[in-house]
Amino acid sequence: MNRIEKLLAQMTLAEKLGQLTMTAAGHAVTGPVIAGDSTEAIKTGAIGNLLNLVGAGPVREMQRLAVEESRLKIPLLIGLDIIHGHRTLIPIPLAEAALFDPQTWEMTAREAAKEGAADGLAMTFSPMLDVSRDIRWGRTAEGSGEDTWVSVQMARAKVRGYEGSDLASPDALAACAKHFCAYGAVLAGREYASADISERTLLEVHLPPFDAAVAVGVATIMPAFTDLAGIPMTANKKLLRHHLREQLGFDGVLVSDYNAIAELMHHGIAADLPEAAALALEASVDIDMMADAYRRGLPVALERGLVTMEQIDESVRRVLRLKERLGLFDDPYRRGSRPESQAALTHRRKLARSVAARAIVMLKNDRQTLPLPGTLRRMCVIGPLADAATEMGGCWGAAGRPEDRVSVVAGLRQALPGTEIVHAPGVRFSGEDESGIAAAVDLCDGADAIVLCIGEMASMSGEAASRAFPEVPATQRVLAEAVFERARAKGLRVVVVLFSGRPLVIPWLAEQADALLAAWFLGNEAGNAIADVVLGHTSPSGRTPMSWPRAIGQIPLFYAERPGGRPYNPKDHFTSKYMDVPNEPLYPFGHGLTYGHFTFANLTVTPDRVAEKDTIEARVEVTNQGAHAAEETVFLFTHDKIATVTRPVLELKGVGKVTLRPGETQTVRIAVPASELRFPGRDLTPVFEPGEVEILVGPGADRSQLLVQTLVLLAA
Ligand code: BGC
Repeated sequence: MNRIEKLLAQMTLAEKLGQLTMTAAGHAVTGPVIAGDSTEAIKTGAIGNLLNLVGAGPVREMQRLAVEESRLKIPLLIGLDIIHGHRTLIPIPLAEAALFDPQTWEMTAREAAKEGAADGLAMTFSPMLDVSRDIRWGRTAEGSGEDTWVSVQMARAKVRGYEGSDLASPDALAACAKHFCAYGAVLAGREYASADISERTLLEVHLPPFDAAVAVGVATIMPAFTDLAGIPMTANKKLLRHHLREQLGFDGVLVSDYNAIAELMHHGIAADLPEAAALALEASVDIDMMADAYRRGLPVALERGLVTMEQIDESVRRVLRLKERLGLFDDPYRRGSRPESQAALTHRRKLARSVAARAIVMLKNDRQTLPLPGTLRRMCVIGPLADAATEMGGCWGAAGRPEDRVSVVAGLRQALPGTEIVHAPGVRFSGEDESGIAAAVDLCDGADAIVLCIGEMASMSGEAASRAFPEVPATQRVLAEAVFERARAKGLRVVVVLFSGRPLVIPWLAEQADALLAAWFLGNEAGNAIADVVLGHTSPSGRTPMSWPRAIGQIPLFYAERPGGRPYNPKDHFTSKYMDVPNEPLYPFGHGLTYGHFTFANLTVTPDRVAEKDTIEARVEVTNQGAHAAEETVFLFTHDKIATVTRPVLELKGVGKVTLRPGETQTVRIAVPASELRFPGRDLTPVFEPGEVEILVGPGADRSQLLVQTLVLLAA
């Protein structure tokens, strides 16, 4: 008998349920939920998994209780939300998505895993793979934006990065693909609300990133809090048991979201805790995070005949197998016994800075306002986010410490030792007090550069942070208008650094700013990275992974729309449009300026007749006609013109990158397996349909800027 079966044979029901329970540790932010002392519960085997424990010391002590003081000595699985870095915070996922660079995405996940594992942790609740097309939803910040192809690449890169090549390695973490599934489609962008989408949208838009995570071996998956067309995901047997386990062969661990099993009662599909627990177990949810529903509910559910011991054993086996794969039985202290070297930390900090600089999206740069010269005499840095180091962290702090974060003012001071940098917040984050505005605006007089730092606070995006007005908060707008007015009067230009966990609706700001940088939340190195871009040490290269609406009423706005029978034509009244605002976004998906100036020419696509097994190669000549070296991002979209099911006007299928000196030209090649042109056909099974397909290549999802070639798909 193998180790797991031997253990299982010795386990009492209470010990089995302990393995199916995850609770916040004594050292947790939220405190223990299990009555009594959770350390006692570890010793009795009543708790087998922990979350929210920070620091190698406390982690080791909890592990010691399990492996030295409990009867069966089963190690604990200890996890934390390492979403965008552990101690070294990096840009929030939406910002990192702006790199459009899977290699870097994998590298940062690898570094986060090393850092988390050095603290003794064995699991992270990341990556979040929810496609989000609604900027009202605060969790947009935690994912990679509106596009499915991007989320698929993110899924592969992050899972590989966290898990490495061997889960048992002392620097590997079990990843958790979350939140399965369609959480980003919550009603009206309102957190925790119901999602109700077509099966086609589920198959085309929301499932592929999770399928990709399973294909590269993700160790765990977390069902979403939400229901999908009336079936809460925590009890969604069709998608969890049938799709993930039976169709895809996922044999890893399903871990519920925080208290989600008990919330099946609020959803209205379970009358009491035993029923809720039975529904989740039946759907094959293995670990109950924070609801204590399995420990309290399953014994009663067993008595009532709602579940069987075999079902419980099936889940216990999966949890034990994960612990075995993580190497925890062989050496429970393999993680967290050796502090990282100074060199490793320095390397990571450098990486964090370069990733942060590359995540910045330059939305506007009129009259080459940026980069600013390094010879400034006096610089005026205004706004509540200018000297707000803590805010730079973004939505998930993990083990990061506010004192390790660099504010914009600090970054600029560091980079410009010879420049006098004056600063005033002008207004506070919350409240309507405008009394500080006049003094802040007066600082502009006599400055030769003005940098205005405004936007959301970190806590305005992330979980439970939906906003009906995803805009710059009102008092900050008053400040900004006053700064613009003074700058105009004095003939000065204003560089705006905009912080947010989502695109914001900012037509007034886009109009008045001379230069506008989307700085999202960039993590520990935010201020240094912003200084790098503002001063031209780094040429900005980030591209927005979401469309920026020009009006709230356009939401949800995303590029991959279907054409409809009366496609948008601003000159034709009876077409799909608004009376009061154009259909186009303020900034399209993929938009982002650089300090170069790129042109595209001579698109060729081969072969021009393609079978499903072929690979298509697009080649395009890219020239930098600007005065600075810069990196350009090249997007490849497809459009299937005639198909049995209407296809979106554009579908992203590939991305290329090239760095060019002024005057330089290079050919960028992007390869796409033709099999990726498959789509769920009329009966929802995948088809590769013969006919013409357009290949569109260029700098973003604005069709007017794309070069087009048509190729023919051949029948099998
Ligand atoms: C969130 C998850 C997270 C979990 C544990 C929940 O509230 O929805 O994304 O992993 O808490 O912190």
